[in-house]
Amino acid sequence: MSTTDYRSFAEDWERRATVRTRPRRVLENDGKLIYPLCRQPLVLSATFLKHCPQWRDFVLTQSFYRFIHDIVIFETEIVDKTARSIAKNRFSLPLPLACRYDAMTVVVDEDYHALVALDFLQQAVELTGIQPLDLPGRIELSRALPAALAQAPEHLCDAVELIVVAIAENTVTHDVAAFSNDDSVKASVRGLMADHLFDEGRHARFWTQLVRIYWQSASAQDRDSIAGVLPIFLAHYLTNELQKSFDLQLVEHLDIGADIRLALHDEIVALDFPITPQHPMMGNITSFLHHSGMLHTPSVKRALGDYFLVLGRVT
Ligand SMILES: [Fe+2]
Ligand SMILES: [Fe+2]
Repeated sequence: MSTTDYRSFAEDWERRATVRTRPRRVLENDGKLIYPLCRQPLVLSATFLKHCPQWRDFVLTQSFYRFIHDIVIFETEIVDKTARSIAKNRFSLPLPLACRYDAMTVVVDEDYHALVALDFLQQAVELTGIQPLDLPGRIELSRALPAALAQAPEHLCDAVELIVVAIAENTVTHDVAAFSNDDSVKASVRGLMADHLFDEGRHARFWTQLVRIYWQSASAQDRDSIAGVLPIFLAHYLTNELQKSFDLQLVEHLDIGADIRLALHDEIVALDFPITPQHPMMGNITSFLHHSGMLHTPSVKRALGDYFLVLGRVT
């Protein structure tokens, strides 16, 4: 990787990073929602609305807790790890010092995001009196990243990790955006999301730039090997299985009749989550692949097509 190609984000970070600029946010005790309805379709289902709407706030609060749980895992176990190894020059790809510095700002941001998330978890438990359910200590990436690495040749593992984290950092941006615009949600929660989004825009550009510089220097053979890993990664990354099992776990904790529980259970199991090229996360991923230059490689284009073929084969 050429030092001269790298453009630092250090100045932008000094002036704008939320860890440098934002005061602590306090959860309001008002009538607004703690989590957007559109992010938890269970509470919008006909069975739920007819038979147990009084459980709406419990379901939304637990969904908020799960969102926080996922942020903490994503930030501290996935992005932090990769950014930290770049900062410490432990990455097998040669990286300029300015890039290592920026990687350390990402570590600081992500650990700060995890801290803010835990602050909100603590405040929400205190405000609602609702204790979080036990959640598995993993997110989709906890399986998707190892699955991708298992398919990569040894010498490309760091490159694959870099690309996977770059994809995730480009999709979390969209994920977070859905929160910050919803007027029915508490202002502090929307502020939390807006702050996070603000930092993630810079992160997305950082990771995209790294991948672009790497991709330019990679051999044709290495590019094709990495392209071959993308379908299995996407199939694990975009699955909704964890969301489904969380929703099923939630239904078990509602104090409702057995017939209503069964109806909700059946609705969750039947809920289809079609992943098509029109899927919003696919839009972000395609945009990332375009801006990083990866999409100009024919094998990457083919891999995206192949992805939709392997979907049905992943368990
Ligand atoms: Fe973050
Ligand atoms: Fe990030």
